[in-house]
Order: sequence, then C-alpha cells, then structure tokens
Amino acid sequence: MAKTLLIYGSLTGNTENISNKVQALCKAKGKEIEIKNAMDADPSDLSGPYQNFILASSTWEDGQPQADFNDFIQKVVTVKPNLVGKKIAILGCGDSNYAHFCGATDIIEKIFVNDLGGKKIIETLRIDGYPETENNQTLLKNWAEKLAELID
Ligand SMILES: Cc1cc2nc3c(=O)[nH]c(=O)nc-3n(C[C@H](O)[C@H](O)[C@H](O)COP(=O)(O)O)c2cc1C
Repeated sequence: MAKTLLIYGSLTGNTENISNKVQALCKAKGKEIEIKNAMDADPSDLSGPYQNFILASSTWEDGQPQADFNDFIQKVVTVKPNLVGKKIAILGCGDSNYAHFCGATDIIEKIFVNDLGGKKIIETLRIDGYPETENNQTLLKNWAEKLAELID
C-alpha cells in the first residue's frame, strides 16, 4: 500500500480534529494515514516514502495559512521538492464570514500542485464554521470516503 501522510496546521484545534476524523474514516475503509503537525513537518517529508499527501490548514490573517503551516510552506518554497507523481488532497477549516474563505487552501494548491507538480486527486474540502455541525460532518464523511477510494 502506498504511504499517505497528512500534514495539518491548526490553532484552535478544528483542523486537527477534522484531520483525525479523516484518518479514522479512511482507516475504516482500509487505508492507513500517518499524521503530522505542521510544526513538526519538514520539506524532507515530501521526498520520503510517501506517495500521497493530505494538506490541511485553517485560514487566519486575511486569507493566510495557519502560522505553523505557513512556516512549513516557507521552508518548502526554499527547498522546492519535486512532487510530480505524488497525489495531493487539500482541506481547510475557515469561516465564510471572512473575505478570503479558506484562503489557505488556495495558497496550498498554488504551491504544492501548480508550482511543485503534485496531482490534485479530489476537490478541496472546505469546512465552514463549527466543524461539528451535521452539514460539516456529512461533507467530511463523504469527502474522506471518496478520498479513501482514490489513494492506493
Ligand atoms: C482573527 C481571525 C481571523 C480569521 N480569518 C479567517 C479568514 O481570513 N478566512 C477564513 O476562512 N476563516 C478565518 N477565520 C476562521 C478560522 O479559520 C476558523 O475558526 C477555523 O475553524 C480555525 O481552525 P483551527 O482551529 O484549525 O485553527 C478567522 C478566525 C479568527 C478568529
């Protein structure tokens, strides 16, 4: 089985919580995912044994990725790992009352897909507001189960 790594950045725990649920939902479908907090992540994680990456960040500061994820991005754009052949899925927590709803997910797509060559395999999951609403939990479950089918 190809290895999958989920890297998340989360300030108040919402994206961490969603990330843990993605892991559990994929496990229930037979797909193992390893999880790393962006504060512990390094660009070398992107050129290791992993074939699939799930990149998860909330949005702060007028559309910017969460601070730890942003630090990770700064290191990644310096090293510029080649992600051609790697599968990418993106998710984010945000709030549509802000002008740049889930802006972090767009920045992640630009860097990891457009610039570094990763292949986006599923539409981005954007969680609006409190993650535990029935609507958000349904979105999450449907997304994670579809994702599980798309990763090896
Ligand atoms: C000061 C502040 C700024 C925020 N800015 C944005 C934003 O620009 N875009 C957005 O979609 N959400 C924004 N949010 C909402 C957070 O992204 C949302 O609460 C998210 O669930 C936090 O996830 P986390 O706990 O994983 O960090 C903001 C929240 C606060 C308190």
